[in-house]
Amino acid sequence: MAIELRDVYKAFGSKEVLRGFSAEARDGETLVILGGSGSGKSVTLKHIVGLLEPDRGEVWVDGLRVDELDREGLFELRRNVGYVFQFAALFDSMTVAENVGMGLKRLTGVSKEDRLRRVEECLARVDMAGYGERLPAELSGGQKKRVGIARAIATEPRYILYDEPTTGLDPMTRAVIDELINRMKAELGVTGIVITHDMESAFRVADRFAMIHDGKQQFQGSPDEIRSSADPMVRAFIEGRPELIEEAE
Ligand SMILES: Nc1ncnc2c1ncn2[C@@H]1O[C@H](COP(=O)(O)OP(=O)(O)O)[C@@H](O)[C@H]1O
Ligand SMILES: [Mg+2]
Repeated sequence: MAIELRDVYKAFGSKEVLRGFSAEARDGETLVILGGSGSGKSVTLKHIVGLLEPDRGEVWVDGLRVDELDREGLFELRRNVGYVFQFAALFDSMTVAENVGMGLKRLTGVSKEDRLRRVEECLARVDMAGYGERLPAELSGGQKKRVGIARAIATEPRYILYDEPTTGLDPMTRAVIDELINRMKAELGVTGIVITHDMESAFRVADRFAMIHDGKQQFQGSPDEIRSSADPMVRAFIEGRPELIEEAE
């Protein structure tokens, strides 16, 4: 069981974002996807949960062809794939507990009692026990990210997608979030995809890497392989100079 994109094409108008991109996250591992700003990383994640449909190519999750699922199939898929959005994306007018319980509310057959218990469990897993009644505005950036992770694990998914989970955080908080990502893998056995351009974070969480450039897979391999890669595009990333990588307009 895994996540796989096979030769995916996606254009918006005349802008070809994905031009035959392939990548695979194997069962139980964390795949880090690297790529310059605007290279199509978030677009890739949206294909995995069926928020976007490919123009061509295939998207597979858990042996299911995502781009051919009907409404009900997509609903079930999204229960099984947690999504930690860029900038946490919490609802400001809802409490932390309400934010975390959102996905559970949509499931039939989960009593209010069970839901509240599950929310508390998830908050405890990200070291946010007791914060349920707070509002997002009362939280730090790192705490919001943790709540975003708690929300993503609430429906007991087998997969979690993290869209730039450490962007905008200070180095210590970044390390804490990385540790949480590793904890989710170890304790819940989830398969993860992490998008980042923070290499320090990337090496802390990655079992494998994929890199997207010009809409295609520029690299895929282990941390050791990426460290020793001679590809100038890969080197620019490894050496912390992603700004050298320009995406074609
Ligand atoms: N729904 C959309 N409609 C039109 N253009 C989009 C849409 N989503 C993304 N794009 C464009 O696709 C490109 C890649 O976007 P994105 O995947 O968000 O980049 P990033 O790699 O920084 O996450 C960008 O040029 C963006 O403007
Ligand atoms: Mg993005």
